[in-house]
Amino acid sequence: MQSITILGLETSCDETSVAVIRDGKLLSNIISSQIVHEQYGGVVPELASRAHQKLIVPVVNEALAKAEVKKEELTAIAVAAGPGLMGSLLVGVNFGKAFAYGLGIPFIAVNHMEAHIYSNFIDEPTPRFPFLNLTVSGGHTQLVLLKDEFQYEIVGETKDDAAGEAFDKVAKMLRLGYPGGPQIDKFAKQGSTNAIKFPRPYAIGNDFNFSFSGIKTAVLYYLRDNKLRDTVIQEQLLADICASFQSSVVDVLVQKTIRAAKHFGVKDIAIAGGVSANSYLRNEMRKAADQSGLQLFIPKFEYCTDNGAMIAEVGYRKCQRSMFSPLNVTAIANLEL
Ligand SMILES: Nc1ncnc2c1ncn2[C@@H]1O[C@H](COP(=O)(O)OP(=O)(O)OP(=O)(O)O)[C@@H](O)[C@H]1O
Ligand SMILES: [Mg+2]
Repeated sequence: MQSITILGLETSCDETSVAVIRDGKLLSNIISSQIVHEQYGGVVPELASRAHQKLIVPVVNEALAKAEVKKEELTAIAVAAGPGLMGSLLVGVNFGKAFAYGLGIPFIAVNHMEAHIYSNFIDEPTPRFPFLNLTVSGGHTQLVLLKDEFQYEIVGETKDDAAGEAFDKVAKMLRLGYPGGPQIDKFAKQGSTNAIKFPRPYAIGNDFNFSFSGIKTAVLYYLRDNKLRDTVIQEQLLADICASFQSSVVDVLVQKTIRAAKHFGVKDIAIAGGVSANSYLRNEMRKAADQSGLQLFIPKFEYCTDNGAMIAEVGYRKCQRSMFSPLNVTAIANLEL
């Protein structure tokens, strides 16, 4: 079989990331996180695209150098074409198309949400089809049934905030900085999950959809009623709020994922996206999967948030199937799975 070497580009939000995969083996995965947004408490789209413009060439060069691969050895270029911020996506997509055209090799447009799922395929062992994936990221909360390679059925989604968005908004209320998910995870370790009873909205009907805005509002009301807004919260109480909020979100995610896995009769489940880096979610999902006889797959930490490796992984698999994209493909901010 002919050797396949893929360059994967990820610029959908505030990470400029480039990876090289050769014959299924990850050779490099360079992630340059843009720190400029921290001072604004969230990603500023215009600043993100400008930073991608500056970073894309150096990060591509670094990824190739680390992999010890010359650009002439590349088989195809894979790029996240959406969903994401339009200005950010355009940098990766246009660079990728021009690079592929210049090298005379195929271009592969990759859906960023499909790539999050495939972060579970970067290292062995990998889930077996059919399996159920819970994607929990900054912009999405999706339960996806993968019937086979590249065959998706979204069986549940959030009706309001994404899980990561809820973490970030609550962290903002607690003045923990941006992105808030990792901070809540850190403080929660010293807190009690039972300290404060926040709601756990299990059932919007009997489906597999989610809703997190109620939990977020409950935290807001708790802070207001206890006169904790715009004050420095005592350390143990802060830890208790974080642990109680986090367990509300995680309990719902775990309960619905296990219920859906049983409903659809799968043996393997996986989690992906930035919130899958959450230590409490990883532990609780592991316990629940073990109790239910399900095999759980969790990506390494560096593959949870946005990265080029997951794009290259999808690119590698699409290249094997000659699933190439025409050069008139463009970025789509709200691209669906
Ligand atoms: N340890 C953690 N605990 C909870 N949340 C976390 C943790 N680490 C990261 N996150 C959250 O993950 C989110 C970022 O994930 P990701 O990079 O996958 O999202 P995105 O790419 O912005 O959104 P999308 O993939 O939906 O377009 C942020 O909301 C961040 O707070
Ligand atoms: Mg993402």
